Amino acid sequence: MIETFYIKTYGCAMNYADANSVRNLLKKYNLKELKNWQKADIVILVTCSIRQQAEDKVSGWGIKAQKSQFEDKTVVVTGCMAQRYDRKTDLTSKKYQNQLLDRFPWIDYIINIKDIKQLPKILNLGNKELVENSNIFYDESNIYQGLFSTSYGCNNFCSYCIVPYARGKLVNYPKEEILNDIKEFVKNGGKLITLLGQNVNSWKQEDETFTDLLKEVESIEGEFWINFLSSHPRDFSDELIELITTHDKFLKHCNIAVQSGSDRILEMMNRQYKAQRFIEICKKIKEKSPQFRITTDAIVGFPTESEEDFNKTLALLKECDIEMVYIGKYSPREGTTASKLEDNVPLKIKKQREKKLRDAVNEIRSKKHSNLVGKEIPILMISPSRGISYYSHEVITEKKYEPGHIYNLEVKDYSRSGLKC
Ligand code: SAM
Ligand code: SF4
Ligand code: F3S
Repeated sequence: MIETFYIKTYGCAMNYADANSVRNLLKKYNLKELKNWQKADIVILVTCSIRQQAEDKVSGWGIKAQKSQFEDKTVVVTGCMAQRYDRKTDLTSKKYQNQLLDRFPWIDYIINIKDIKQLPKILNLGNKELVENSNIFYDESNIYQGLFSTSYGCNNFCSYCIVPYARGKLVNYPKEEILNDIKEFVKNGGKLITLLGQNVNSWKQEDETFTDLLKEVESIEGEFWINFLSSHPRDFSDELIELITTHDKFLKHCNIAVQSGSDRILEMMNRQYKAQRFIEICKKIKEKSPQFRITTDAIVGFPTESEEDFNKTLALLKECDIEMVYIGKYSPREGTTASKLEDNVPLKIKKQREKKLRDAVNEIRSKKHSNLVGKEIPILMISPSRGISYYSHEVITEKKYEPGHIYNLEVKDYSRSGLKC
């Protein structure tokens, strides 16, 4: 008898949104979610392939869990490690899935996340009427914060990246579907809407742009905040800058992925913009909204990256006042065009460059955080003593407040990861 499940999620926000749709699906079949995998009847791993390290975490999990512990449970693997698309045919590779099963004998089922609605049938959970055309990506038990996927897959083919093969072709979800899910969320008390996409700002539908979509989200009645991730510099338009810097419902924070400050490396990465483009976007944003927080993603040690290339990345992050950076040490992914190049920056150098970037950005962040001490900023409370600021800082509070409400609170102190109010 299957009664309980456990979900372990790896990787990016899109995976967390996918995990929410699995969670909500299984709850409809009256299964109970457990925090402890050992006691669960079904274990679902929502996996990530972005770097070798991400895949190693999943193999590590399999090794840690002893064989005997698998005997009374069903292990389902989904997410980016579970599928590879042949981009010519847009079909998933069975051969790849079989290799995975050979590698990890503890897996019972490998399911493409797009087919996850088949899971109840595969597990014999019985029949239920399900609303077929709506994916609930937010966690129905976390009513204040909602993740909303606006697209699936990617067609950009940055030379280092596995995503176009792991998630397949870009599909933009229809505007009406996205808006309906958000309206439902707001009606139920939702307060923070996060729109998601590999290049969220590249969303389009006929002649409507991402800025048009945002305007419609904004016009939904109610008190709530909006943010979105992750953005691609190529498609970060002036209209988008104008909207998010001047309208109150938008959090004053954006993650715009730059990857490198060297035009030579950006070209090899097939990023389709120059470093100057990113610098100009940041300048325009800060001109209109000086407190706006900008965070980014960067890769260190891409093949042939010299000290000079790296220093350009370092200088760019400083020039743009970047407060946080997700750093990836370059990891060759089989099937991508960059994987044909020699991975010729030694790990030791990658680690040094990672540390240099991190130290520089930590310094910027500390300065910014310390400047906020003594000032009042709006905080949306998610739980009695945990919230999110209007600039997307994580906040912990000394006193207790009512979740789902926005308070103007004085910043008392700060840490690496956030603010104390
Ligand atoms: N679509 C977004 C973009 O264009 O930046 C995010 C893509 S990916 C899910 C998240 C981050 O992983 C990337 O921004 C990049 O910095 C990093 N990444 C992707 N492939 C990588 C690789 N092969 N090695 C190291 N880091 C990688
Ligand atoms: Fe990967 Fe580039 Fe697509 Fe981002 S835009 S998901 S880095 S291929
Ligand atoms: Fe990983 Fe897939 Fe996201 S590879 S980073 S989970 S899109």
